Amino acid sequence: MNHNSTTLTTFQEKLIHYRKVIFDPALEKYLRDQGASSLYDPIRYLMNIGGKRLRPLLALAGAEAFGESPKKAADAALAVEVFHNFTLMHDDIMDHAPLRRGQQTVHEKWDANAAILSGDTMLVQSYELLAKYSAEKLLPLIKVFNQTAIEVCEGQQMDMNFETREDVALEEYLEMIKLKTSVLLGGSLRMGAIVAGAEETQQKHLQQFGINAGLAFQLQDDYLDAFGDPEKFGKQVGGDILADKKTFLWIHTFQNSDHNQKARMLDSDLKGEEKVAYFKEHFRDAGADTAIREKMEFYYQEAMDHLGACEIQEGQRSFFEEFARSLIERAH
Ligand code: IPE
Ligand code: IPE
Ligand code: MG
Ligand code: MG
Ligand code: MG
Repeated sequence: MNHNSTTLTTFQEKLIHYRKVIFDPALEKYLRDQGASSLYDPIRYLMNIGGKRLRPLLALAGAEAFGESPKKAADAALAVEVFHNFTLMHDDIMDHAPLRRGQQTVHEKWDANAAILSGDTMLVQSYELLAKYSAEKLLPLIKVFNQTAIEVCEGQQMDMNFETREDVALEEYLEMIKLKTSVLLGGSLRMGAIVAGAEETQQKHLQQFGINAGLAFQLQDDYLDAFGDPEKFGKQVGGDILADKKTFLWIHTFQNSDHNQKARMLDSDLKGEEKVAYFKEHFRDAGADTAIREKMEFYYQEAMDHLGACEIQEGQRSFFEEFARSLIERAH
């Protein structure tokens, strides 16, 4: 038996191949080509301290699913990862986050001005990477990329607005996470499909698969923010609780609370570790931890329905199934 070719067809092996052979070399070249100015130090730092590289892997897989060599999607993949890291650099300022990928955030290590300016530079660099495509591919790529990028900002604005509201409905929350997070996973897949020259209806099915898998992914992010293992999570556990984020956990719990419990949830004297401990216990008592897992399974199934409508080979389909499953079973 040819062991190598057998193992290369498995999910894990494909991911390793995408990273080691396509994405990592492209990233290394991008980082090598940065200028000497200290403007680039935070960029090199953030892009080198880890990251699961989910969005670029989706872009590469999106191209391969429709019969293109994934290598052709390398620049689009790098563009979405650079864009993602730009959003993280700015998101950490907005969320007052001390930790990212187990290390100090850029605004803590340098300052907010450095994070703003280096982040802006990364946004421009993501366009430079896209500009490597010929005009025929560039136009549809930019259209999807721009719509996605604007939606991410809309989602971030809603996330900020919700911090000071106590009446956020579950539907509003779901719309917010779709915008701030899911559309970028869907957009990455669609950009891969565009590189492959897939038909528009097929592009859209794969994009919808990504949006639904992305909703499950952000639900898991919210779950881990409260219940994750601090050793593995890489971000401050309880950060969402301290920032009064209206996550699925918060909304479900508030809706299932009595008058006194609601008053406690809104008590501005409740702070720090005591606040995190109170919310974690109350989230569990209200059954929010089990409700969120049910919601994740619901979106996983929705994602599978869209995947079913994609005209791709069975091997490709099982890759995306496993990818979506890994998004909700992750610990970081
Ligand atoms: C973090 O994204 C931001 C969210 C949308 C939840 P990831 O969990 O993909 O972060 P990295 O890139 O792997 O660090
Ligand atoms: C991040 O949402 C969404 C974007 C960066 C656009 P979060 O604020 O939940 O992400 P983390 O938890 O800081 O990674
Ligand atoms: Mg945020
Ligand atoms: Mg954040
Ligand atoms: Mg989060």
